[in-house]
Amino acid sequence: MRIDIITVLPELLKSPFEASILKRAIAANLVAVHFHNLRDFTSDNYKSIDDTQFGGGAGMVMMVEPIDKCISSLKSQRSYDEIIYMTPDGETLHQGIANQVSLKENIIILCGHYKGVDQRVRDHLITREISIGDFVLSGGELAAAVLCDAVIRLIPGVLGNETSALTDSFQDNLLAPPIYTKPREYKGWKVPELLFSGNLPKIEQWREDEAYKRTQKLRPDLLDD
Ligand code: ADE
Repeated sequence: MRIDIITVLPELLKSPFEASILKRAIAANLVAVHFHNLRDFTSDNYKSIDDTQFGGGAGMVMMVEPIDKCISSLKSQRSYDEIIYMTPDGETLHQGIANQVSLKENIIILCGHYKGVDQRVRDHLITREISIGDFVLSGGELAAAVLCDAVIRLIPGVLGNETSALTDSFQDNLLAPPIYTKPREYKGWKVPELLFSGNLPKIEQWREDEAYKRTQKLRPDLLDD
């Protein structure tokens, strides 16, 4: 998979890709992530990427031209399956979207700033709009990092244990069951006895039941459909 990220603040975005699982995924060539500074696609001396709104109103708007130039330049080099705009009014990110995006070959992610982008970018260049929740960040960079993390960990080979992404919370519309490790008892706080029984079918059944109970208690909305 190849991810091209268009941003005015590449420095805000780079560190999540320089540590831990994402760094290893890149080093293993399971994913390539490239950053493109929108200011490199401007045509004036000030390297302007934004301007005031037509019709008046507070806040700057990101201009169509630098974004179009950047996306066109990428598209001239390869074809893209999805051009995603990170925006608080997009569809809210959930595990199903991460699963879908993880199956793509090449994607572009555009990070917004200020009031957002000229609507013509959204009408003519963008294929999908994603929000990471009902709150407003100062830019799309952190949202893009969240999306990339959720997506990259699903690429086969990225997680050490191939099955572990399948047992994550949300994969079956269920939260994950409780998990325990050593010591068996700490300050009198005990691990459920069943987990030492060696009876794998029973343990699996217990995990399913606990996942269901936890979902019913904390996120009953997930069980609705
Ligand atoms: N940009 C600003 N806020 C955002 C959000 N909540 N999700 C995605 N992109 C954003």
